[in-house]
Amino acid sequence: MSRRIAVLISGRGSNLQSIIDAIAGHRLEATLAIVISNRADAGGLNRARDAGIEALHLSPKDYADRDKYDEALAEILRARQVDLVCLAGYMRVVGPGLLKAFPDRILNIHPSLLPAFPGLDAQRQALDHGVQVSGATVHLVTDGLDDGPIVVQAAVPVEPDDTVDTLAARILAEEHRIYPEAIGKVLAGGWTIEGRRFRC
Ligand code: GRF
Repeated sequence: MSRRIAVLISGRGSNLQSIIDAIAGHRLEATLAIVISNRADAGGLNRARDAGIEALHLSPKDYADRDKYDEALAEILRARQVDLVCLAGYMRVVGPGLLKAFPDRILNIHPSLLPAFPGLDAQRQALDHGVQVSGATVHLVTDGLDDGPIVVQAAVPVEPDDTVDTLAARILAEEHRIYPEAIGKVLAGGWTIEGRRFRC
């Protein structure tokens, strides 16, 4: 039976689209059960609806605090029998309410070669630092910021005349390739975590 995934977003949802396309193209064996955004204006919600996928705006304003919000999220995900939660441009810290409900079952994608440049504006951080190689990382989510075991990484060169936008576009192309790949790996099972290492 096809495993069930959810994607959490806050914005345009191009990584969400890469997951939708990978499933449609049979490059990823999974059912996308629901897409949830903390922002009403996230473009990704329309991408989900266009693909016939349930799309939900869950506003943090309707909840007393982060814990209550994350508990509500967990409840919705459990009700849809979700096996794996994929953060794709989801601009909120995931608290214990969600982490405990899906231990080692939450993935995130970050536009740098972690552990370099965690947090916001990773592409600008890479340019400002003067690195010659950057990239993208898919990792399991833990309570540390962009800090969980690494599932898949891809490197891209930083060109001398790069701007934040040109570098972000080069990295994004790799994100779209490796996120479906990483989801497939995690869903396939047969992996363990040894220390910080994801082994399969
Ligand atoms: C991506 O660069 C992702 O790595 C980062 O936020 C961006 C989301 O883009 N976490 P999109 O919404 O998937 O287009």
